[in-house]
Amino acid sequence: MKPLIPAEVIQARIAELGAELDTLYGDDEVVVVPVLKGSFVFAADLVRAMRCNVTVDFIGASSYGESTKSSGEVRLTLDSSVSLMGKQVLLVEDIVDTGLTLAYIQKFIKSRSPAGLRTVALLDKPARRVAPVELFRVLFRIPDRFVVGYGLDGPGGLYRNLPFVAVL
Ligand code: IMP
Repeated sequence: MKPLIPAEVIQARIAELGAELDTLYGDDEVVVVPVLKGSFVFAADLVRAMRCNVTVDFIGASSYGESTKSSGEVRLTLDSSVSLMGKQVLLVEDIVDTGLTLAYIQKFIKSRSPAGLRTVALLDKPARRVAPVELFRVLFRIPDRFVVGYGLDGPGGLYRNLPFVAVL
């Protein structure tokens, strides 16, 4: 599969984002909340590019089932295991497509009364947005194509282990 976004390009943008977040959060503790499953690779690299005080807690969401088309119905598959009340939360998402998944998760996190909530996403497909979402940073805007790799899966859950992003 041919890379759409090569591994080195992804890593360079993550290093920049990590430095920006360090400056932003300073001495504050930040709870990094990756949305499973797709963001586990991005989040693993992002936290290692951050030098501020980081803790990590996962949530899980699923809107696709086994297909490549969004069902529009979001299911929470894993809840966070720590209290987010009064914390600085950094939500880490792999890709924002219709925005339905992220809108649902952002509402859910806000109901836990964090002191602050920012969302970073690796990829954004703005062409297909249905639900408005707040994004602090997006690393790459891409056209409306189904992509895999760097944590994102295709049919059957395959391709998450590719070190780059490719069009399926
Ligand atoms: P949304 O709710 O339509 O914004 O979809 C978001 C979720 O769908 C992401 O977190 C991914 O898990 C999945 N998704 C959307 N587009 C793609 C894609 O191109 N490749 C792989 N997964 C995708």
